[in-house]
Formats: sequence, structure tokens, C-alpha cells
Amino acid sequence: MRVAIIGGGPVGLVSGAVLAGVGHEVRVVDIDPVRTGKIALGEAPFHEPGLPELLRSVVDAGRLTATGVAAEAVVDAAVILICVGTPPTGSGADLTALRAASAEVARALRGASGYRVVAVKSTVPPGTTSEVVEPILREHSGLGADSLGVGMNPEFLREGVAVDDMRAPDRIVLGISDDRARAALESLYAPFGSPMVFTTPTGAEMAKYASNALLSTLVSFSNEIAAMCESVADADADAVLRAVHADRRFKGHAGRPDAPASITSYLLPGLGYGGSCFPKDTEALTAWARARGVASPILDAVRQVNAERPERVLSLLRARLQLAGARVAVLGLAFKPETDDLRESRSIDVARLLHAAGAEVRACDPVAADEGARMLAGVATVTADAESALDGADAAVLATAWPSLVALDPVRVRALMRRPLVLDARRALDSVTWGAQVEYLPIGRHA
Ligand SMILES: NC(=O)c1ccc[n+]([C@@H]2O[C@H](COP(=O)([O-])OP(=O)(O)OC[C@H]3O[C@@H](n4cnc5c(N)ncnc54)[C@H](O)[C@@H]3O)[C@@H](O)[C@H]2O)c1
Repeated sequence: MRVAIIGGGPVGLVSGAVLAGVGHEVRVVDIDPVRTGKIALGEAPFHEPGLPELLRSVVDAGRLTATGVAAEAVVDAAVILICVGTPPTGSGADLTALRAASAEVARALRGASGYRVVAVKSTVPPGTTSEVVEPILREHSGLGADSLGVGMNPEFLREGVAVDDMRAPDRIVLGISDDRARAALESLYAPFGSPMVFTTPTGAEMAKYASNALLSTLVSFSNEIAAMCESVADADADAVLRAVHADRRFKGHAGRPDAPASITSYLLPGLGYGGSCFPKDTEALTAWARARGVASPILDAVRQVNAERPERVLSLLRARLQLAGARVAVLGLAFKPETDDLRESRSIDVARLLHAAGAEVRACDPVAADEGARMLAGVATVTADAESALDGADAAVLATAWPSLVALDPVRVRALMRRPLVLDARRALDSVTWGAQVEYLPIGRHA
């Protein structure tokens, strides 16, 4: 099947590469010429495990190509997936790129013969596909339902494991309003054999927001419990939440009935959620509800708890250290391990707050150091290696649980630091080993 992907970000490019890997002919369209240039050479433009190898193989096989011109990709495509960004505005989702991409696709299809489906993969407020995208597509293409189907097909992949997620989707949600569009999208995804959920476009949009809102709620719930544990001398939130995980209703993972389900990774004390999805999607959903006069007290509280997490790190440090004039290492800048994505990263917020409190901030990240240095210009010095950040530091904050940071040797860390005060904001370090070597301060436990 010929497939056009509009937008070559984590969602579009990983989807495109995996769809090409199962035999479809894919053209990726992006307005960024640097990005299309790299993709055309088979090079991944961002860090995502497994993507470089997959991309090279599908580009070499001629099954994935890249272009800056939508018309080249869409005219003979049976399915067109719109995967452009929908960034936060502060009070909802910015649909500028989605509108522009829809209009470009539609203009390219004017006068086209045959039948094709355009599906929105971007995460958008409920109603957007029917009320915004479809009218633009129909107006600029002049095509009716007999030659142009419109659908909504939200994406659930997780950055860092995006290739594996896309290769074996846990669900494929198809929001479609007619049988012909349904048949085209069903055959696109037939090679995966994953469960399919059929709903309306608005139902599909709501399903994506509901999913991210629930996961965000688990994170903030865990951090509310963590704050309570911190207020008493003898309750550790990590142990408390691991006891919750032992509930048989949270078990069953990858064919192992006794292993904790992966959802338990959202039920741990930490620095809160970041990244390009949870913060913006909870913001957009609450704004959408407010505009309809629907109260969202749970999600309002979820967002407030999350917003306060970086400040919590500072107050834990302040109890031990005069921040003005102190040198503080921030270990890890990406919003989570195995990605170079810094969007809405809590680590960046921690670095900024430390700087504002008068600390000298030295940050590190194994893959996002260059972009981190740009974002933190004038705030922190940023390196790829942890040792430079730790050298002579009065405190260190483990802000992103990169395996290379979790594997640091506490004896070496103690030798490097001026004062070996280590705040584990991700509860990723072994408390016994680290506690024996450094002043170990885990989030979620009384300090
Ligand atoms: N990143 C994730 O983990 C994830 C997961 C699920 C869903 N989503 C959603 O999927 C959507 C895309 O996410 P992303 O992280 O890939 O976005 P992104 O912003 O990182 O990438 C979008 C790409 O689209 C390109 N683009 C913008 N306008 C264009 C146009 N008119 N024509 C062609 N290309 C254009 C940009 O240059 C960019 O390369 C968002 O709505 C996001 O919320 C993201």
C-alpha cells in the first residue's frame, strides 16, 4: 500500500519506518529540509533506539523516501497520515501546523481520481478532525466522501521504545465515519495483528487524551503520596508504592503472570511527568473541558501537583545546603532515558530554579547535551559526561535515570564532589550502596 506521512518527527518517522518495514511504500513529508535530507540518506534525525538500523534498511530497500513537497507524496497514496506537532499554547493545543498540513494535502489532491483516506495521527482536542480538519480537506480539495475518507488514528507509542511499540501496537484505535475508510485503515494495519478499537473520530481523539490523562494522574498520585511520606520519619514512598504494585490487579507483564505490569512504572515517587505529551495533553483536555463548562477537578490537581515537583527538589536541597553560591550538578536533562527530547523536561526546570536560587549549575546528559546547552545558555554549563558536572560539586541531583548515570560508582562520585550530597529525584539509585558512600537524599522519604 502507498502511504504518505506528513511530519517526520518521532511519531511520523517511526510510524513510517515501521510501516515500510512491513512492506508498505512510504513517503515522509517534512517542511524541515535538514530533516528530510537526513531521512533520505537513511539517517535518524533524533535519538531513538533501533531507528537508525530500521531506517537504513527501509531506505536502502527503496521502501521509504523523504520529500519537502506534499504533492509528490499524497497524489498516489491510498492512506495519508498527518503527524505534525500540536504544541501547547498555555491554554490548549496549537493547531497551526495541523491546519497548514491539512490545507497542503487538500490542495495537492484537487482533481485527483480514485479513493484515499486522510487520517489524523497528531494528538488533538476532541472534535478537531470533524470540525477543523475535514472542512479544510473538503474545501481545498473539492473532494466528497466518495473519493476522500477522513479518519482519526491516535498514536500511543512511547519515545525511547517507539520502534518496539510501533512494531507491536497494544491497540490500534480507528476513529472513522464510514466503512470504506475503515477498510483502508484496517488493511494498512493488518500486518500487525493487533487489537483494533473502532469508534468515531471524536471518540478516538478522546481515547488518546483519556489515556495520557490517566497515566499523568498515576504520576501525580504517586507524588502526592511521596510528599506525605516525606513528612513522617519512617515511611518510604518507594516501599509504600511497591506494596501497591504487589496487588495482583497490577500484575501480568510480557507473558509473566507474577511480574509487575509496566503501568507500575507510573506509580513511583519522582520528579513528575514531562515530555511532549502528558503536560500538553492534560493542559489541552482541561482547557477543552473548561470551554464547555465541564469541571475537571481531578486533572486540575494532577497538573498542580506536577507543576510543584521541581520546586520540591529545591526545598529538599535547601534543608541541607545554602543554594546561593553552591555548585550543583544536574544529572540528566532528557525528559526520560533513551530519548534526546527535552520538551517540558522537569530536569530543565530544576536547572533553571537552581540558577534562579543563585547556584552555579553544571548539567550533563549522554545524548541531549548540545540541545541542553542551547536551552540552558546563561543558566548552566552542559556536558555529555557526568564527571565534569560532578567535579567539585556541593550537591548532585539525579534528574533523569539514564542507565549510564544510574551505573555511576558512588565511590568515584564521592571522590569527585566537594560535598557528596546526592538527591535521587528518580529513586533509581540503590539506597544501601549509595547511602554507604554519600549523603544520600531520596525523594519520597523523610530527609
Ligand atoms: N512524541 C511522542 O511521544 C508522541 C506520542 C504519541 C502522540 N504524539 C503526538 O503526535 C504528534 C506529533 O508528535 P511529534 O513528537 O512527532 O511532533 P514533532 O513536533 O516532534 O514533529 C513534527 C514534525 O512535523 C513537521 N511539520 C510541521 N508542519 C508540517 C507541514 N505542514 N508539513 C510537513 N511537515 C510538517 C515538523 O517539521 C516536525 O519535523 C503530536 O500531536 C503529538 O502530541 C506524540
